[in-house]
Amino acid sequence: MTDGSPDADRRRFLDERRVICERRMDTLHAPTYDERWGAYVNEAHGRCVQALIARLAPGSVVLDAACGTGKYWEMLLSAGLGIVGVDQSSRMLELASRKHPEVPVSHGSLQDLVARADLGSAMDALLCIDAMENVGPEDWPGVVKGFAAVLRPGAPAYVTVELPEDDIVMDEDAVTAPLVAGEVLEGGAYHFYPSADQAREWLTERASTSGTSWKATGTSTSCSDAAELRSGSTAISEGPATPGAARARRGRRHLVARRTPPGAGRCRVT
Ligand SMILES: C[S@@+](CC[C@H](N)C(=O)[O-])C[C@H]1O[C@@H](n2cnc3c(N)ncnc32)[C@H](O)[C@@H]1O
Repeated sequence: MTDGSPDADRRRFLDERRVICERRMDTLHAPTYDERWGAYVNEAHGRCVQALIARLAPGSVVLDAACGTGKYWEMLLSAGLGIVGVDQSSRMLELASRKHPEVPVSHGSLQDLVARADLGSAMDALLCIDAMENVGPEDWPGVVKGFAAVLRPGAPAYVTVELPEDDIVMDEDAVTAPLVAGEVLEGGAYHFYPSADQAREWLTERASTSGTSWKATGTSTSCSDAAELRSGSTAISEGPATPGAARARRGRRHLVARRTPPGAGRCRVT
């Protein structure tokens, strides 16, 4: 029960979206995920995952948060890395475990990472790819805190953030839903697309915990943006469509962030 206040309405709405997302993944997307999306690795994602791998010593352990069916695990395992997979969809985890029974997985949400004592400050790196669009604005700071809480200080992370695009057609129930700016109900799915500035702010300022900070940067498939990346400025990349997309999307972009020790220099992913 909620007390009918706007905050309570929002909380109930976001909790419902999370349940619906889990159900949709279990029933709608998991059965065909690998067939439809498993073989395709977005060029920027592939490059950034490789860049992250290059920073890690063999035996390092990567938390793949919202791991889905473990699309990037082959890359990580062949580099001699350990993996821990977490996802809120049991069915996605089941498919991941079928392919890689040696990888420990657990059922859990991004929102609950901060309370995961079993993972606390122990991870050498983090991946969270194509999942943050399922997290509502009120939950963003807590999720990023969770990322910081599971990582060793200075450990690298690759977190993708979908940014708004211009061709969204909302579902009819969006009219009565308590949506805030950046949120969409589309094709039965809830997505939140923060502005680039907002995402950067959450990733850099508000997520600071225990003396560590996040620096947001970007990546891109183009050489000029790669040069910007090396100089530490922010670039935006093109990314892949996700299963929630009913059609090909234009202008899908991602930010990348990594956790840095306090006082660290400019952020580099490469
Ligand atoms: C598009 S898939 C991406 C999976 C994988 N990271 C990849 O790149 O193939 C999104 C995944 O995020 C998971 N997910 C969505 N919201 C989540 C949440 N709040 N907590 C944990 N997992 C979540 C879904 O269950 C799904 O497996």
